[in-house]
Amino acid sequence: MNPSSRKAICPGSYDPVTHGHLDVIARAARAYDEVIVGVVNLPIRKGKTLFGAEERCGFIEQATKHLPNVEVAPFSNLLVDFARERGAMVVVKGLRAISDFEYEFEMNQLNRKLAPDIESVYLMASPQYSFLSSSGIKEMATFGGDVSDLVPPTVAKRLQEVLQR
Ligand code: PNS
Repeated sequence: MNPSSRKAICPGSYDPVTHGHLDVIARAARAYDEVIVGVVNLPIRKGKTLFGAEERCGFIEQATKHLPNVEVAPFSNLLVDFARERGAMVVVKGLRAISDFEYEFEMNQLNRKLAPDIESVYLMASPQYSFLSSSGIKEMATFGGDVSDLVPPTVAKRLQEVLQR
């Protein structure tokens, strides 16, 4: 596929997707013609996911159906190879606190070594979501905390089913 700088990949584990992720995806969809949300099948560094890739993709598809230029797809290879397969030259990621920086910097350097032609750009988290993470959501839900205003309704329901046994 011909590479395009107007097409961006928003990669992540999305286990599960939060309103913070959706904010970044919506902002990327305003900045680029096409956005592909890449849901990694097996995130090596994060271990086993709570939800399978298919369900994680389904949550995002449902929450982005009002955005016509957003597509959701799982991937199991290198991010830069996935980007190439899909003809995207840009990777968009959200950045929250300084704590994100070290990890993102390393990933950026690895990706750049593998594919200098693919550029990564970072959107600063909106203030209302700067504290929000999938692991924080899972911890809250495990102990019965209310996550309903932090994730889409289907995600909140599934977290309750899966975690509050
Ligand atoms: O939001 P996350 O969970 O931090 O996203 C992680 C993701 C999907 C960006 C990362 O795990 C990834 O890119 N995985 C695919 C393998 C890869 O290309 N790794 C980076 C270069 S070695």
